[in-house]
Order: sequence, then C-alpha cells, then structure tokens
Amino acid sequence: MTENKKQIRVWCDGCYDMVHFGHANSLRQAKALGDYLIVGVHTDEEITKHKGPPVFTEEERYKMVRGIKWVDEVVEGAPYVTTLETLDKYNCDFCVHGDDITMTADGIDTYHLVKAAGRYKEVQRTQGVSTTDLVGRMLLLTRQHFQRGAQEYEVRRESSSSMGQDSAARSPWTGCSQFLPTTQKIINFSDGKSPKPGDKIVYVAGAFDLFHVGHLDFLEQARAEGDYLIVGLHTDPVVNQYRGSNYPIMNLHERVLSVLACKYVSEVVIGAPLPVTKELMDHFKVDIVCHGQTPVHPVEGVIDPYAEPKRLGKFKLLDSFNTMTTEKLVERIIVHRWEYEARNLKKEKKELAAYEAYTKAKGEEMM
Ligand code: CTP
Ligand code: C5P
Repeated sequence: MTENKKQIRVWCDGCYDMVHFGHANSLRQAKALGDYLIVGVHTDEEITKHKGPPVFTEEERYKMVRGIKWVDEVVEGAPYVTTLETLDKYNCDFCVHGDDITMTADGIDTYHLVKAAGRYKEVQRTQGVSTTDLVGRMLLLTRQHFQRGAQEYEVRRESSSSMGQDSAARSPWTGCSQFLPTTQKIINFSDGKSPKPGDKIVYVAGAFDLFHVGHLDFLEQARAEGDYLIVGLHTDPVVNQYRGSNYPIMNLHERVLSVLACKYVSEVVIGAPLPVTKELMDHFKVDIVCHGQTPVHPVEGVIDPYAEPKRLGKFKLLDSFNTMTTEKLVERIIVHRWEYEARNLKKEKKELAAYEAYTKAKGEEMM
C-alpha cells in the first residue's frame, strides 16, 4: 500500500456459533472490501437473550473466528446492536453483514443505526449452510445428507416437517438447506500457493467433520511442525465406514471449504486415501506426518494407516490439549435438542414476519 492511501478498516459482527464455511465466506467477502478486518463476537449472555443458547462457549467462538484466515483482529463481547460508537472506537469505516436480517429479541434490526448513517455494506450470504441447518442434520440422524440429488431433497423435506417446521413456509434467508459446491468457491478459499523451495512439508489426514476447536488446536500444532501444511480429507464413504451411523455430518465438499478457511492450512487433498502411502508422501514431498491423541479406527484391510510413515521414521503424535471431538459436539446438540428446536423455530418465524413486512412495504412503494 502506498503511504498516502488510507487503510480501509472493515467491521463485522455476529454470534459465529458453530463456525462454518458460510461465516468464513462472509468474512472473506468483507475483507475484500477493505484492508483490515475486525470481527466483533457476541457473549453467550447476549446470544441467549436475543436468539437462544449458543452451542459453543464464547471462548471457543472467539478462538474459532481468530482461526479464519481473513480475520485480522477479534473484539470479544461486541454489542448485539451495532453502534456508531463501536465503529469509531475501532476506527472502522463501515460494517459488513450478509444479505439476511438479524433482529434483537424485540424484533429490531440490529444494523438500523449503521444503515441510517450510511456505514453499512452487504455481502452475499452463502446459500445452503447455517448453524440452524447443521443442527437439523444432527437431529435428523440420517446418513442420507451426503448423497446428492433427489433422495437428499426428500430427506430434507421430511426433516423440516419432523422438526415442526412447515417446509412450505421457511425463511427465505436461512431456511434454505442445500449447498451447491462450485470450483469458484474452492478457488476463492484457496491461497493457491505452492510450497517454497526448502519448506518443511507437514501432512495430516482425517475427517475434519463439523470443523471445531479441537481441530483448530491440532492444526495449529501441526503447522508449527513445519512451513507448509497439507490436510488430506477422507471421502464420505470412508468416514462413514470408520465412524458409522450418520457420519459425516458435512459432506466432503463442505469439509474442504471449512478446512481451507483455517489460517494454518496451506493445501487440502480432496478425498485422500486412508493409508498414508509412500506414493502420496513422495508426490507431495512430505517431511513429516502427524496425528493427534484421538484413536485411529482400523477399517477392513487397513490396520494402521500410518504404517508407512512410521517405517520411514516420519511420523509424530501431537497433543492438541483439547478434548473436543465431532461426536461430543453432536452429543451437546442432542442433549439440548428441544432448546435448539425451539430456538430455530422462533428464529425462522421472526424472519418470516420481517420478510412479509418487507415485501409488503416494497409492494406499496411500487403502487
Ligand atoms: N453468514 C453468511 N452465510 C451463511 C451464514 C452466515 O454469510 N450461510 C453471515 C451472516 O450473514 C453474518 C455472519 O455470517 O454476516 C455472522 O452470522 P451469525 O450472527 O453467526 O448468524 P447466522 O450464522 O446467520 O445464524 P444461523 O447460522 O443460525 O442462521
Ligand atoms: O477425528 P478427525 O479425523 O476429524 O481428526 C483429525 C485430526 O485432528 C486427527 O489427527 C485427530 O487426532 C486430531 N484431533 C486432535 N484433537 C482433537 C480432535 C481431533 O488432535 N480434540
């Protein structure tokens, strides 16, 4: 940047509960509107008051947002309604939010102040993923969600009615539940950088389903083992083979984007083989292969996926010092299922009422 060009500072805020690639994509777009991105994250108390209890604690949510590669700074405990004082305090030019509506418990637009002052910009919400949808998938306990096509659509329709939501009356902002992956999304999320000569290359592999703080802590440690971190993601059938039941909750495309958004990750292998082979290690010039403290589940024909790197003396066990797992996360949701179902229903009702009022006002304007 030249000296006389003023740095543009952008403000975003939100709950960032169960951070997913939809959140990451909004932060990516926000960062592209300026030079420096500050993200305000609400406390558990604020979220409980306005929306219902969050799945993750504020400490976990602060950490997850800090882990997203487009974020320069996190402000803990940001107010639910964005004020001009907040923007000024952090020297931000404007506030950015997705093109959905966020309301307080009393139904007030949380951005009305910044909108009135002309310090509000919108980015496109990522269709097909939301905390609400992910919670729905966990409650549904189906293994069908990663099978694309008509069958998936049917399952989702059934799920919305079984959750007490009328599928014909879903919020146009957050009620959508089908994410369509494109190469453009992957390009947008990827750094596109190859390793530099002499870089120490680290390889890790796994499911990385419902990307969580345990994964983040692990990847931070793995990245510290070298200069360039490659994450191999197992395919949906492989994950289902070793995890069983309804896993993975997120399909391979979704898991790719979640992992690519992490600031420690340099590259992702889309559908990595379960055994870490010599060919794979030679291909990517891998110096070291790492795994965390979680057990490795052998599947038919593969007793130890790390046999080869171990034989080559290129394997290291890491400790993330974090006990969160995908299964524990799902358990948290299941335990609180009625709270979440009530929360989701309330949120969609509020959004529908706001949408109806908005379209009515637009219609009157046109007359
Ligand atoms: N966001 C987005 N695309 C999504 C989900 C969220 O662009 N699929 C954006 C929102 O528009 C907002 C930011 O991420 O700018 C933070 O959203 P947050 O306050 O956490 O609420 P939501 O994620 O919208 O809530 P939910 O996922 O429960 O619908
Ligand atoms: O379970 P999953 O395949 O998603 O794990 C991916 C990697 O993250 C594994 O190496 C696992 O040991 C590690 N991990 C960790 N700490 C956690 C959760 C996962 O080190 N809390």
